[in-house]
Amino acid sequence: MVEDSGKSAVALGVKSGKQLKTQSINSIESSERSARFKTGFSQLDEVLGGGILPASVSLLAGQPGIGKSTILLQLASNIAKDAPVLYISGEESAAQVKLRAKRLANSHSENLNFASSTSANDIAATIRSQQYKLVIVDSIQTLSLEEVSSAPGSVSQVTNSGNVLIRAAKSSDTAVMIVGHVTKDGTLAGPKVLEHLVDVVLNFEGDRYGGFKTLRAVKNRFGSTNDIAIFEMDNEGLKPVLNPSQALLAERLNTDGSIVLATIEGTRPILVEIQALVNTTSFGYPKRTASGFDLNRLNLLVAVLQQRTKLNLADKDIYVNVVGGLKLQDPAADLAVCMAIASAASGRKLDDHLIVFGEVGLGGEIRSAHSSERRISEAKKLGFTAAIAPKTAAKGIGKFVLPVADLRSALIKYINK
Ligand code: TYD
Ligand code: MG
Repeated sequence: MVEDSGKSAVALGVKSGKQLKTQSINSIESSERSARFKTGFSQLDEVLGGGILPASVSLLAGQPGIGKSTILLQLASNIAKDAPVLYISGEESAAQVKLRAKRLANSHSENLNFASSTSANDIAATIRSQQYKLVIVDSIQTLSLEEVSSAPGSVSQVTNSGNVLIRAAKSSDTAVMIVGHVTKDGTLAGPKVLEHLVDVVLNFEGDRYGGFKTLRAVKNRFGSTNDIAIFEMDNEGLKPVLNPSQALLAERLNTDGSIVLATIEGTRPILVEIQALVNTTSFGYPKRTASGFDLNRLNLLVAVLQQRTKLNLADKDIYVNVVGGLKLQDPAADLAVCMAIASAASGRKLDDHLIVFGEVGLGGEIRSAHSSERRISEAKKLGFTAAIAPKTAAKGIGKFVLPVADLRSALIKYINK
């Protein structure tokens, strides 16, 4: 066993490597931006900070079935129009990948190569051959190093294999993208360890079946982590969603419990429908369920609603749903969630032409939200006429904003009609 011999698997694995080529920092910087290559998805390029940088290592993490293999195959064939790309799968056979590639739009290219392998050493040697501009490894969980005795997918295999690939990428000019599966709660040890090692970590999340899928950089050594790319799966693979607000509101039915929230995803304003359903509890303990919204935050907001507005929810089941598969992290979603619950509980709808945003404090006060102007301009673009928003948002924007100071007065004024 490697551990017993006192030598790490990584040291053994890179024994065959050659001496690194070095160059001055200045020369690297001057060519940095132009050297990036485009993925063919402009939103994804922005997420990456302008495209894929040679010799960079990115980890694409997401639940099984979310579309990781699909997006990488699409990206690979886009890049293969200009440069040789290698797609390595440890999960699927050549025939299976071919079958998938055939279904995807414009995935025919002489420069798109395929290999099936689960050996980290073989893959590292292939990366070092400098033959390819981009090497995609699908997935890290299938890889193993002969020098490590544990099973593929174990923490030590994932970490050591990852390390070998990263070193190979850095010593050549080849960009590497690695797929990492995560479990439903994102806790698999492997990819979490890997996050520290790689340059870029992309999270692919959303509904596995239908709905929007969002791709965001949670770590990026070469760019910001503010932008997101939004995709939708159809039978020709993943398509970018260029006007998400419009798509998200297309099927909206204005009933009680439905509120349009102006949120910010990354740097982008998006209008999204928040739905709430409130029901009398049939068993002793009231049930609270949230989809696309943090459950702890929901419980807190229900407590604030009870204490600060005297809305009685103690014997009510409450369900909150963010339409379209988005997972909201924006604190300004609070007010919309509270108003949706109050609207559902009272059976009264909010006026059709209103959007809502604002953070709710424990005292029931409405706190300011960042990027108010962008939220409001998105609402105007989609034909809304007013925004229920924190007082601070009204500055400079004038009549569009209906300022509210606290939750109780907001509900009395706009829901309790
Ligand atoms: P996949 O990329 O294999 O997910 P992952 O690699 O993250 O595990 O694909 C996910 C799902 O997408 C799969 O269940 C089938 C579906 N799909 C389509 O709907 N259309 C398509 O064109 C492709 C290729 C897949
Ligand atoms: Mg896959």
